Amino acid sequence: MRQHDVIVIGGGLAGMRAAQQAQAMGADVAMISKIFPTRSHSAAAQGGINAAVGVGDSWEDHAYDTVKGSDYLGDQDAIEVLCEEGPADIIALERMGVIFNRNGEGQIDMRAFGGATNVRTCYVADQTGQVILHVMWEQLLKSGLTVYSERFVTELLQEDGRISGCVALEIPTGRIEIFQTRAIVLATGGIGQVYYPTTNGLAVTGDGLALAYRAGASLMDMEMIQHHPTTLKANGVLITEGARGEGAYLLNSVGERFMENYAPNMKELASRDVVSRAETMEVRAGRAVDGDCVLLDLRHLGRDLVMTKLTQIFELARDYAGTNVLEEPLPIRPGHHYIMGGIKTDVDGRTWDPSGQGRWKGAEGLFAAGETANVSVHGGNRLGGNSLLDTVVFGRRSGAGAVEYARSVGWASVNENAAINGLESRIKDIFSRPSDGLRAATLRRQMGTAMNDGIAVFRNEEGMQKTLATIRAIKERLPEVSVHNKGRLFNTDLLSVLELDYMLDVAESVGMGAVTRKESRGAHAREDFPDRNDEDWLKHIVVARSEDGQAEVGFLPVTMTKWEPIARTY
Ligand code: FUM
Repeated sequence: MRQHDVIVIGGGLAGMRAAQQAQAMGADVAMISKIFPTRSHSAAAQGGINAAVGVGDSWEDHAYDTVKGSDYLGDQDAIEVLCEEGPADIIALERMGVIFNRNGEGQIDMRAFGGATNVRTCYVADQTGQVILHVMWEQLLKSGLTVYSERFVTELLQEDGRISGCVALEIPTGRIEIFQTRAIVLATGGIGQVYYPTTNGLAVTGDGLALAYRAGASLMDMEMIQHHPTTLKANGVLITEGARGEGAYLLNSVGERFMENYAPNMKELASRDVVSRAETMEVRAGRAVDGDCVLLDLRHLGRDLVMTKLTQIFELARDYAGTNVLEEPLPIRPGHHYIMGGIKTDVDGRTWDPSGQGRWKGAEGLFAAGETANVSVHGGNRLGGNSLLDTVVFGRRSGAGAVEYARSVGWASVNENAAINGLESRIKDIFSRPSDGLRAATLRRQMGTAMNDGIAVFRNEEGMQKTLATIRAIKERLPEVSVHNKGRLFNTDLLSVLELDYMLDVAESVGMGAVTRKESRGAHAREDFPDRNDEDWLKHIVVARSEDGQAEVGFLPVTMTKWEPIARTY
């Protein structure tokens, strides 16, 4: 059995930042990642990272924009932490070696992003996440961090009410490994593959959320799913908001800059929920191209700008849509991108209520950060550029929180044999099914399509209930799913069945949150309840496991500090 004071599960930016902080504090820390860490989905964050580092900007302005962007569902104390601490984290990244684009004076350059009253998105061309991820990885290599790569964590272990370790399947060998620890930080990213299509990579299957849920933690605001306004129809690939930040227009089929009608001040740079809804309304009004797309027009930006700041976009449009964006507008449509919800945490990443009052269900010793977590800085709608900031600020804070906690407790015991046998019997059961049975890919596609049909840019009771019923019916069929490959080495067939099990818990919790919230707020736009209703619904919806193992819904108040909800216009 392997033993570390702190274990970070997830090798993306939040996980790397947590591990780096934990190690800097002198803890024995290890990182476990399902894929090689630099392949993590953080690398797909294109447009930039927000922080009030510009002349004339302030963290309070950033916080207000974020509160407004969240449609007042974000917890304002957490938003203040994000925005106040953000600038120092940008400088820290720069000192580690992140080569942010520079302006003519040699300072960090910034581009405009949606929902922001000031220009505050620091960037590295259109590859910001990729560059930060690699720089962080260099730092971890330099410090000699212990990394267990290509391990799929299947279970969190608990003893006497607190985290004691985890079970992992070593993917290349099929061996089962048991880890003992005092504290775990979950940073496994979002839930992208629960939807089809999505901008998210294949590894993004929401495992961390399901592991935490099964260990007793609460999932909060799960209905708040972000559809990014500009994705490619062919494969759901992201076309960065940075394109609009640099001045690209959105046009309908009659060549109209339609955002002038929906957000007269901010136009294309209104927040994402607003722009995605506007595009959908144009399509519904019969002003679509290619069936369900509108056009992103970069032609007036000119070759120099596109080829220096939006190179990846040029290549993605050329390779996947056959479009030369220098010469013709690019068909795009809203696509699943992000979950604002996640594992409920406090600002130090703790998933349990440290006051001891049991205000929400949690798992002592379990921390979470990044998209996996919901510290509640995004509320009903995340501003573009705030997710990278979330990973570095709250990755750092949860790493520190985990070390402090680990130092305050002894080792909880782990029954190694029972843990190994538990996973062995799951695998044996899957291998015992006939090889020509139901395939995980079939159910995954049914789940993803149902989620995108019923819980998308617009929702209504009938559609959401239908999706939820489909998810529950798929869950019933899980015991029928079989694999062709019954070997142990690099068995991605098996991995796909195990992942599906977790994905269905996540999908169900999204559906339960969605049918519960009977109003429209942020990304949760209900055709049958079109207005925001602060009187009844200015509160978080929480899904947690009941004593008898069923998903059950509860509520938590929204924390307000200084911004009272007002009408949200752009
Ligand atoms: O559009 C983008 O570049 C995505 C950024 C984000 O989701 O923060």
